Amino acid sequence: MNLLPTALLPACALLLRPLRYLVARGWLRESDVDAWLRLLHPALRLNRVLARVCAREWVAEDMLALTLQPNGNWRGAQPGQHVQLYIERDGVRLSRSYSLTRVGADGRLQIAIKRQAGGRVSPYLLECLAVGEVLELGTVQGELHWPQQAPGVLLLAAGSGITPLLGLLRSALAQGFAAPVTLLHYVREQGQRAFADELQALQAQYSNFQVRWALTGAETPSAELQGRFTAEHLQGIGDVAQRAVLSCGPASFVAAVQHWWQGTGSQAELQVEAFTPPPLSVGSERREVQLSLARSRQVLSAHNQASLLEQAEAHGLRPAHGCRQGICASCTCTLVSGVVRDMRSGARLAEPGQAIRLCISAPEGDVEIEL
Ligand code: FES
Repeated sequence: MNLLPTALLPACALLLRPLRYLVARGWLRESDVDAWLRLLHPALRLNRVLARVCAREWVAEDMLALTLQPNGNWRGAQPGQHVQLYIERDGVRLSRSYSLTRVGADGRLQIAIKRQAGGRVSPYLLECLAVGEVLELGTVQGELHWPQQAPGVLLLAAGSGITPLLGLLRSALAQGFAAPVTLLHYVREQGQRAFADELQALQAQYSNFQVRWALTGAETPSAELQGRFTAEHLQGIGDVAQRAVLSCGPASFVAAVQHWWQGTGSQAELQVEAFTPPPLSVGSERREVQLSLARSRQVLSAHNQASLLEQAEAHGLRPAHGCRQGICASCTCTLVSGVVRDMRSGARLAEPGQAIRLCISAPEGDVEIEL
């Protein structure tokens, strides 16, 4: 039993100030203070953001929504952003980024997790994580925002790309956004239509909102729309070229939407977010290089055609990481010397002391990093 009710967690931030003062001056150790605080409530910590799982709800055959109550160290977020989530499995700290599908006025958050076949995090969250357990949250990122002034909005989602768009949609409709909004969600099968009941309820409640699904798997006679994204799927949506477009899904889906949008010559706003990485460039000729790790005093053989993260892992190391796409910053490390190449843009980074992301940086020559 918790000595402190979960509802009081957010209010504890101020009460902990004197303890922070003592820790900052070295009179107490944070780890000791955290050990005492967790006796009061498992999610109470001096500085770390922990959240208690308040509810689990299956919102599709392969997607689970979790409602979380963060402690008072949570600094807030906007719907549509994504938050880093950490768990420990078999002594290894793992991290993934999940979109916020709801940011409640009561401080509670909702994220939705899609099952990833062969994944290490989602199967645990879906099958094992129980109400009452505690998770650690990290940085919040994401630029998607609701186009408040647009004469209409078109939301195009594929798979779990629905999650940030749902967060934005719920909030916009609740705040009285009155221009037409159409959501088109691409899923493989009928049972993957995440939040379908709620979306249909929103359609019934708000006359300016319409939802449609396209099935991309085997042909289903009952499907409203069939196959991958194409401009024909937008027929019947009024003033589509005037509408602000928000699109989220795998990189190939987002690229198809961008291609269509450029072809319309639209002057309206386009916002996109891809949750699979664009292909990383491996450079031209393979060169063997040395990778020196300053903290662990190791020198590894490496080459210029794979990321520093992959190469460190290939040598049995386990650097902290999350998204592996250059988004979450979990793998950030300091460059001590040498030159690395950003595998997304091709930019060269050579400034000693500069922060680099191991998952998207490849060595150009011998490199030393603070690891
Ligand atoms: S693992 Fe997320 S930025 Fe590298």
